[in-house]
Amino acid sequence: MKIDYQNRGFSYYPTKYNVRCSYKNGEWGKLRISTSKNVTLHIAACVLHYAQEAFEGLKAFRGKDGKARIFRIDENAKRLQRSCEGIRMPKVPVDLFNNAVIKAVKLNEKDIPPYESGASLYIRPVIFGSTPMIGVRPADEYELIVFVSAVGPYFKGGFTTASPFMLSRKFDRAAPCGTGSIKIGANYAMGLAAGQEAHERGLSQAFYLDAKEKTYIEECGAANFFAIKGNTYITPNSSSVLPSITNASLAEIAEKCLGMKVEKRRILLDELAEFDEAGACGTAAVISPISEIVDIDTDKHYVFSKDAKPGAKCKNLYEYLRGIQYGEIEDKFGWNTII
Ligand code: PLP
Ligand code: COI
Repeated sequence: MKIDYQNRGFSYYPTKYNVRCSYKNGEWGKLRISTSKNVTLHIAACVLHYAQEAFEGLKAFRGKDGKARIFRIDENAKRLQRSCEGIRMPKVPVDLFNNAVIKAVKLNEKDIPPYESGASLYIRPVIFGSTPMIGVRPADEYELIVFVSAVGPYFKGGFTTASPFMLSRKFDRAAPCGTGSIKIGANYAMGLAAGQEAHERGLSQAFYLDAKEKTYIEECGAANFFAIKGNTYITPNSSSVLPSITNASLAEIAEKCLGMKVEKRRILLDELAEFDEAGACGTAAVISPISEIVDIDTDKHYVFSKDAKPGAKCKNLYEYLRGIQYGEIEDKFGWNTII
């Protein structure tokens, strides 16, 4: 059966295999291959009550040359280590992470969407504390699971359609128990209310200001924010924003390949009115151009695209990034792991 990748959204599509590894008695065990889609958890498992869980998101791409490439795997491994440290889980060694991810991709190789289908293989490593407990403390035992799903764009229309985002001071980016700078499930649960309100208002995603002063720009619900002003790529510098690997890659491309200036700094809300283009960026979002940011508290609209089309600089950045990921442009930074 031919798969209609063109109309695929960003959802879970099952594949046959996932890869697992257990942490017990102070050490990680061997990688196991599983065809089960389930986990069995104790009713008192730490993750169910105290959300001791972290995850990652990265992608594999089928190139023009037929080869599969995983983008910046080491950066995801390092970020997972920071997330683990942040909520006191044992760090997953970089080699173990890389081996588990590569194994999951190889086992499901037939599910990597074809070149030019517009789709890619999303890789989701997740780690959680499984020890039964009632007192609040770190678990003793953990499970690492890596599964994959062949996905399409995160936002409807992908790169070609700019979408409107919602700004409201009612919502904060960071979870009360931690910070937005680590990739833990609890942060995403804290964003569900804002995301739902945005959708109810016909807007694509929530856009956050800093939690303390509500003056500076932070990021979007599931992606970083960047803007273009003239020939400058501008992105917020904030300790409560998730350090996006895509954003760092785009900044590097902007500076070293496209002759742009890069500014990573605090950005005042009022500056939105001065930007020529704006976008959300991330593994799932890639670059999703923002048509406007609607401040629902003041009814102010910051418009970046009147016709819902991406701007020229966003297009250059998008094409360069995709070019590297699909093996069309020389990977001079050594970002790809070829499978
Ligand atoms: N910010 C948030 C909150 C995210 O969920 C993501 C997705 O991973 C990003 C930013 C983008 O990060 P990356 O480019 O590493 O995927
Ligand atoms: C990603 O881009 O990998 C994300 O984690 C975003 C979202 C799907 C949670």
